[in-house]
Amino acid sequence: MPASHWHEQITYYRHRAGEYDATAYGGLPDADEVIAALVDGLRPAGDVLEIACGTGMWTRHLVAHARKLTAVDSAPEMLALARCRAPDATFLMADVLDWTPPRRFDTVFFAF
Ligand SMILES: C[S@@+](CC[C@H](N)C(=O)[O-])C[C@H]1O[C@@H](n2cnc3c(N)ncnc32)[C@H](O)[C@@H]1O
Repeated sequence: MPASHWHEQITYYRHRAGEYDATAYGGLPDADEVIAALVDGLRPAGDVLEIACGTGMWTRHLVAHARKLTAVDSAPEMLALARCRAPDATFLMADVLDWTPPRRFDTVFFAF
């Protein structure tokens, strides 16, 4: 895919951040319970990296398992929402297609 399409995608999510939860999860009233159960089952341990954390729907459950959680997203608007949900996580703004992780991680997590 051309680089310009990735930039369009980043812009798209930046504009969508404020409506994201309602449009992505609004029809799933038990989404939080389902996500919690899935993450509990995975038991992501150690130094955990979450890629494309969005509004933090998974982040807030990952942080309960991880010794340290680092969450990356390219949209500052998404990161601001995720930070409210998971204040104990470390957040980085980056385009993961043009990003070198600062270290190796024990667990790398990516979900929708
Ligand atoms: C479908 S949402 C999923 C968010 C979250 N993982 C969830 O399940 O609710 C996709 C996310 O990927 C982020 N994203 C898109 N392209 C990215 C890129 N190149 N680098 C980092 N994050 C990106 C968007 O900002 C958005 O938050």
